[in-house]
Amino acid sequence: MRPVGVLLLAAGKGTRMRSRTPKVAHHVAGRPLLEHVLRAADSAFTPTDGEAATSAPRYVVVTGHERDAVRASLHWQPAHGDLQFVVQEPQCGTGDAARIGLTGFEDENLPETMLVLYGDTPLMRPETLRALLAEHHRNGATLTFLTGFTDEPGEYGRVLRDESGQVRGIVEAKHATAAELAIREVNSGIYCFQTAWLAEHLPRLTAHDNGEYYLTDLVALALDEGMAVATQQASIEEAAGVNDRIQLAEAEAILRQRVLRELMLSGVTIEDPATTYIEAGVRVGQDTILRHGTTIRGGTVIGERCEIGPYSVIQDSVIADDCRVHGSWLEGARMQSGARVGPMSRLRPGAEIGSGAHIGNFAEVKSATLGDDVQMHHFSYVGNATIGARTNVAAGVITCNFEPDGKKYHTEVGDDVFIGSDTMLIAPVTLGDGARTGAGSVVTRDVPPGGLAVGMPARIRRAKNDAQSTAAPSGTDSAEGNTAITADSADTDATSSRGGASPATERDVKE
Ligand code: UD1
Ligand code: CA
Repeated sequence: MRPVGVLLLAAGKGTRMRSRTPKVAHHVAGRPLLEHVLRAADSAFTPTDGEAATSAPRYVVVTGHERDAVRASLHWQPAHGDLQFVVQEPQCGTGDAARIGLTGFEDENLPETMLVLYGDTPLMRPETLRALLAEHHRNGATLTFLTGFTDEPGEYGRVLRDESGQVRGIVEAKHATAAELAIREVNSGIYCFQTAWLAEHLPRLTAHDNGEYYLTDLVALALDEGMAVATQQASIEEAAGVNDRIQLAEAEAILRQRVLRELMLSGVTIEDPATTYIEAGVRVGQDTILRHGTTIRGGTVIGERCEIGPYSVIQDSVIADDCRVHGSWLEGARMQSGARVGPMSRLRPGAEIGSGAHIGNFAEVKSATLGDDVQMHHFSYVGNATIGARTNVAAGVITCNFEPDGKKYHTEVGDDVFIGSDTMLIAPVTLGDGARTGAGSVVTRDVPPGGLAVGMPARIRRAKNDAQSTAAPSGTDSAEGNTAITADSADTDATSSRGGASPATERDVKE
């Protein structure tokens, strides 16, 4: 493939969106409209097997209206080639935008071919862009553009042809006669130009009554000069532009179906595609089952043989093989192989769940690492903590990590620890390997390995060596033993004389 530049027009306001957000920054399938277009172009230039590498394309994006918001919305860079922004201010139409856009390429080194794209056509497929470029290079035309056929041509520019079928020009809907409005062939807004001709002729466009310069007028201009203009047909689905929120939803629906189909073809079971929402870029491994009512967003990666849903929302998370997420909400979390979450639990950013660990219902984990095979079945909050392998976190356990000073304090729990029901761990605090806490204990001091803490605030009742004796701490049905060790009266009195259970007070006691 010969050197190609990509000129993307994205400076317009998008008045028909009726939005404070610039149109091209609106999202479909988790990405801003203009990012879909840029990615499609980028994929179009990625050499396929056996194909010689092309010289890296250069991208220029024309921004104007709310340009900072447009640039901020784009979290993507081309894999190869570079991307620059130029400013069109004020916005005087697509012809004016293209003229200004060309200044983003160095004059002495203009690519031979210029692919001009609009930022509001997110459905365009890479293979269609490749085919357009190939056709343009094959036919040697000055300009080759994509058209589509539709029974509802609406606001699209109409493609005018003579009796022989040769293209004669493009007329915008607002300037078209009734007969022209009936034409079903429309301009997709995707063009390949010989760059030298484009650069020479953009300044020759004249403004329409509304003050706008139309890129589409170049078709008639080229024909007037006797230059060759060719068209290539695409499906209207791909050519569709997004001008209002109805078209935004239509584009979303089409992209969603594409993502789902691709996953199903790659070996993922999607129980109910109608209620499954997966953003472009999400990766899911073979034989994973996505149950109904599930939404998966952002850069989420899910391994093989997992079961996700029904009713789960997963954002920017990494889930290894053989995991289960039932009716739960994950954001910025990681789960190692065989881990299970839910129903009705929440993993917040920084939650790392070890292999085989089990988070049950109404549990919340944030900025915390739970070791392999940790059991945490009911109503717990673990934040800013490290929990060792095989530790049991019984019902109602809370890491009290937050202080009124705004700081978060860390809780360190070793391996094989048994944290009894309703234990409050007042951070910073450490529980050594094999330690245990009694039901309802408020742990304000470190518990040594093998130690037992009970009461409020908890007293360390046994040293390491006799820790294995007598009753087990109170757990839940998931844990061995249901016998409660509750704080004895002496412990309770000691607590009340030192004030209530507010975290601050507990910290004062500790220090
Ligand atoms: C345009 C075409 C129309 C085609 C349709 C396909 C023109 C004159 N008309 O109409 O023939 O059928 O796209 O979707 O080209 N932009 C700028 N600066 C401006 C104006 C627009 O950068 O001054 C950008 C917009 O941000 C947008 C793109 O150009 O991404 C197209 O503009 P838009 O106003 O949506 O054009 P349409 O009316 O849809
Ligand atoms: Ca448009």
